[in-house]
Amino acid sequence: MKRITESHQDYFFDIDNANKYLNDAKNASKARFSNFLSSIKKLDIKGKYLEVGSGPGIITQVIATQHPNAEIIANDISPEMIKLAQMDLDEDLKTRIKYKIGDACDINSLKDLGKFDLIYSTFTLHHWDNAELAIKNLFSLLNDNGVLYIHDLRRVIWLYYIKSQSGFFNSIRAAYKPGEIKAMLNRIGIKKFKIRTIFPFFMQSILIRK
Ligand SMILES: C[S@@+](CC[C@H](N)C(=O)[O-])C[C@H]1O[C@@H](n2cnc3c(N)ncnc32)[C@H](O)[C@@H]1O
Repeated sequence: MKRITESHQDYFFDIDNANKYLNDAKNASKARFSNFLSSIKKLDIKGKYLEVGSGPGIITQVIATQHPNAEIIANDISPEMIKLAQMDLDEDLKTRIKYKIGDACDINSLKDLGKFDLIYSTFTLHHWDNAELAIKNLFSLLNDNGVLYIHDLRRVIWLYYIKSQSGFFNSIRAAYKPGEIKAMLNRIGIKKFKIRTIFPFFMQSILIRK
């Protein structure tokens, strides 16, 4: 089954679509994020965090609350998503989270952010125009012993039998198979990584260590 392209970047540049995504993500947040959140909690990384493709900022706020000493930069390519994420933040979160517009595929838009102990991203890998370049860029922003943690959909074989073209199924069709990710990491020269399938099997996590 061939991967379809679903960059969707212009979609997220529209404020109505950004708001729609925010509402969908709020309704589905437990199923989408619980494995990711418990994995990040277990890693227990201290220091500076970068969230890539933070969207409306739901996860940024949860991570900031779970890790009260972490300094977080939340990045997104869409100015509308960045605006939405900054709304209704309490004073503590306002001082601890900095929002920056930037493109994971363009190192020039990220390099002034500094280096990080943890870089994480949820449900964005399949949107990146050049996933291999984005991973290479993010890996270069890790401190020694830093971790890059990517949580995304996984393209699964049973999609052959599903006719639906809904946004969700097309997002799975646009996601990478573990073997494709492994090939990218090998080409970049990343040696320390673990790719894990997450129940219900159309999600996966990629943990990369510097
Ligand atoms: C499906 S949303 C996920 C938002 C959030 N991470 C979540 O899990 O709810 C994908 C986000 O990735 C952003 N995005 C897409 N391509 C990007 C890129 N190259 N660099 C940074 N952000 C990007 C989009 O603007 C959008 O906000």
